[in-house]
Amino acid sequence: MENYSPIFKDLEEKIVSLILEAKTLEDLTEIKNKYLSKKGEFSQLMNKIREASDKKAFGEAFNNSRKVIEDNYNVKFTKLNEDKINEKLKEEEIDITLPGNNYHRGAENPFYKVKKEIEDIFVSMGYTVETGPEVDLDKYVFELLNIPKDHPARDMQDTLYIDNNSLLRSHTSSIQAHVMEKANGKPIKIICPGKTYRRDDDDMTHSHQFAQVEGLVIDKNINLGNLKGTLELFAKKMFSKDAKVRFRSSYFPFTEPSVEVDVSCFACHGKGCPTCKGTGWIEILGAGMVHPNVLKMSGYDPAIYSGFAFGVGIERVAMLRYGIDDIRRFYQSDIRFIEEFNKKVED
Ligand code: DAH
Repeated sequence: MENYSPIFKDLEEKIVSLILEAKTLEDLTEIKNKYLSKKGEFSQLMNKIREASDKKAFGEAFNNSRKVIEDNYNVKFTKLNEDKINEKLKEEEIDITLPGNNYHRGAENPFYKVKKEIEDIFVSMGYTVETGPEVDLDKYVFELLNIPKDHPARDMQDTLYIDNNSLLRSHTSSIQAHVMEKANGKPIKIICPGKTYRRDDDDMTHSHQFAQVEGLVIDKNINLGNLKGTLELFAKKMFSKDAKVRFRSSYFPFTEPSVEVDVSCFACHGKGCPTCKGTGWIEILGAGMVHPNVLKMSGYDPAIYSGFAFGVGIERVAMLRYGIDDIRRFYQSDIRFIEEFNKKVED
């Protein structure tokens, strides 16, 4: 039997040594293309079989040589591949001993806390929450609320106009006018929270922009006692279990009779302290029985229907509730104030 292996030996050794020297998978691919692919130098040696007298022996010698190369190739391939994976793992290693990222958690502005609380209290009494436009027509802000063009009550609120006929609403009572217009003479039980705007000098207790919640109930047989009971329940839930309310007579064009409502001081329980300026009472809102003219203008017969309404400042309630000294703090987005406040409430 002829020995054909010398034909392949030189190239075999050369290729094996190249494989052993290869540093990367790319080097290996290059070797494969150059020597071992169909047209590669080593594969081409097979063409010499034509000249061989013992073709079987030639084939065997070729295969033996190719196996040596392939074995080396495979070992090297596995090794380089593992190296590559290990390197990648090392690169992506997560050091769990590193300190974590601290996310700064925001806190809710006390204004929104109190707004939600007021809404919850009234929703639990069966009220629905209504909203309305902040830029509104004279008709809804004044006329339908019994404040005609020349009425002196406009002076305090005759304020930020967009044009002759529309303005930034000066109270949320305007929403009451919208709802009454839409209700088509049907009973109403709503609260209307929202921003309001007035010409005002900004100081510790005044702001040209603030927020109110308007309340309105219209039905048969609604009386002042219903209003008092409702506001007392509100005061008990918002301020103190033993809170009482008292009415002082007042004037609003859209209610008759009208009242200023005081709540017994929750800091001293009526004894007199700095919070209530020694009186035992704190003024919190305006209210009254819906004026017959207001009922009539929106399609209710005052002989059949009656109603009460009230308007309370959200910031005012929040300031009393949490002892906040300056209304401007609600709008300054000073995170120190908001966080301090949240701590106080959650502790
Ligand atoms: N609209 C009044 C204001 O802004 C507040 C108010 C008082 C609303 C009495 C009412 C009410 O509904 O009956 O000063």
